[in-house]
Amino acid sequence: MADYRHLIVEQAGGLATVTINRPDKLNALNAELVAELDAAFRGLGQDDGVRAIVLTGSGDKAFVAGADIAELASMDAMRGITVSRLGQAAFREIELLRKPVIAAVNGFALGGGLELALACHLRIASERARFGAPEVKLGIIPGYGGTVRLPRLVGRARALQLILTGEMISAEEAHRIGLVNDVVPPQALMDAARGLAHKIAENAPLAVAMALEAVDIGYTATTEDALRSESNMFGLLASTADMREGMSAFLEKRAPAFKGA
Ligand code: COA
Repeated sequence: MADYRHLIVEQAGGLATVTINRPDKLNALNAELVAELDAAFRGLGQDDGVRAIVLTGSGDKAFVAGADIAELASMDAMRGITVSRLGQAAFREIELLRKPVIAAVNGFALGGGLELALACHLRIASERARFGAPEVKLGIIPGYGGTVRLPRLVGRARALQLILTGEMISAEEAHRIGLVNDVVPPQALMDAARGLAHKIAENAPLAVAMALEAVDIGYTATTEDALRSESNMFGLLASTADMREGMSAFLEKRAPAFKGA
């Protein structure tokens, strides 16, 4: 497995855990870290041994406290566009992965950290987690997809409240508005995220992949196009051995043994 400066990537039993490891800077995302995330997720996407991924931050304070402000402070307009585009591309890589990516949000998820969690498919938060989009306090706006994904997830009014005030909300509030799937005590966070990942990984891998793709297409395509695409994927899955296996197992009252084929 590749060596990273700011990431720890572990694999066990089909589950990969990616830990952002820059705790002295509250895991703030500098350019090198964004590039490492891009490379790591690209690699995990191509690794057939990986069925699900949990993404978390090291230390007990932060998931990611945002883009690295020290690095951003000197950017000019063209660099600003590049920084934003590179972050968007890395996060889109995660969102488009055909394996579930679960954010285990262990502390502050601010700015780029919130946007990173938004690019994951599911989010589990520790009771200690805090969420916010403080960019306007710095004279910028969310630039890693936050203005696009946050309103789609929690609705325009709630998203605008977060983006315009820059104020932080608790994990409980994040759960109430649908920003996170669940909130658990800090010591239960990784087990909860891994438990969810394992539950998904037990299902037919191609069906899970197609479900992720169908929901992604349904988010942006017209209803007509999305419905057509859904039928095509539904039909495609009828050609898989795993569909026969899943249905036979149900009829024979036994557990299925999926092969990802
Ligand atoms: N970029 C760069 N460095 C950051 C950072 C960021 N987004 N967030 C935290 N850090 C650094 C701090 O500068 C500090 O470094 P130092 O010890 O070398 O001085 C270290 O991480 C610890 O942070 P500190 O501010 O001392 O911790 P705290 O507990 O007092 O406050 C926060 C925690 C999260 C409230 C505060 O760090 C913060 O507001 N961070 C910026 C959040 C932000 O605006 N993110 C959006 C960026 S676009």
